[in-house]
Amino acid sequence: MKKHAACILLMLLAVVMNATTSSGQIKTDSETWSIAIHGGAGGDAANWDAKKKELRLVGMRKALSKGKEMLSSGASALDVVEAVITILEDDASFNAGKGSVLNQAGKAELDASIMNGANLACGAVAGVTVVKNPIQVARSVMEETPHVLLVSQGAEEFAKKSGAVQVDPSYFLSSVLRTRDNPVDGNRTTAREDKHYGTVGCVVRDQHGNLAAGTSTGGTSKKLAGRVGDSPLVGAGTYADNRFAAVSGTGIGEEYIRNAAAYDVIAQMRYASTSLEDAVDEMINNRLPDQSGGLIAVDRDGKIVMQHNTPSMSCGSASSDGLFEVRLDAFPARESVDKPQ
Ligand code: GLY
Repeated sequence: MKKHAACILLMLLAVVMNATTSSGQIKTDSETWSIAIHGGAGGDAANWDAKKKELRLVGMRKALSKGKEMLSSGASALDVVEAVITILEDDASFNAGKGSVLNQAGKAELDASIMNGANLACGAVAGVTVVKNPIQVARSVMEETPHVLLVSQGAEEFAKKSGAVQVDPSYFLSSVLRTRDNPVDGNRTTAREDKHYGTVGCVVRDQHGNLAAGTSTGGTSKKLAGRVGDSPLVGAGTYADNRFAAVSGTGIGEEYIRNAAAYDVIAQMRYASTSLEDAVDEMINNRLPDQSGGLIAVDRDGKIVMQHNTPSMSCGSASSDGLFEVRLDAFPARESVDKPQ
């Protein structure tokens, strides 16, 4: 009799824990997933030519499709973040990997980081010049060393030993971004002037309830040699904690570092029980200076928030509920919570 009662209790629990999807099917929590990507918040997409818009949209669709395919099959958040960012790094339309902007010396110096929300493990590289996919090396730093961040020559030596694909620095000189928008012409404008901060990032909540985040960039255009931005700094450009959210930023890295932007979103949730929407909104609209960039984030329930305080942000989102969208145009300053007039 007792066994029978326990059985009924378990069945009731299963019913309570199940959710009805938008398509009306009953879906267990373990079947749900969410993903968001960004491809930079620099410039104003309204002023881009049709070709540039199409390149960005096609690139994001390809990356997001890969993420969707992997997540539907039960892949881990960490694997998805790495695979999606690898695709964006290989696409010269974005300021990361192949498409990285150049520093004042005419060289590409790349940064990336990745974080596992399940255990707070994280890894990063900064200032690498011959690594094809910095996000993969960031993951190797996380998994194969006791360290979090390796820089320049040491990072490159480690990358070589760990089997990462090496490229000649000229690999980065053929990028769409460089030839069209970032000629090495001695015109040393600042990143804010030429609006060329266009980092890529990915945040994921997988079917198992795990969160992960990653960010990769060539940094800001015409930066000083050796300058490192927020993207490889866990807490500034990237953060993930299964109990709260996964966050990735794009924008003027110095502002994200000053504001500990990615972790501050988590801290607001942790210490003040702020919702993800409110935490991101606070960071984008009240802490980061206007025109400094954007954030993408997903919380432990799979809720996606994407915001920016620039005219536009290349971004996309998909989920097990059937959402699949990429866009270039500006979001409203706040999508889910009313702003004071
Ligand atoms: N957010 C990219 C950078 O500032 O390097």
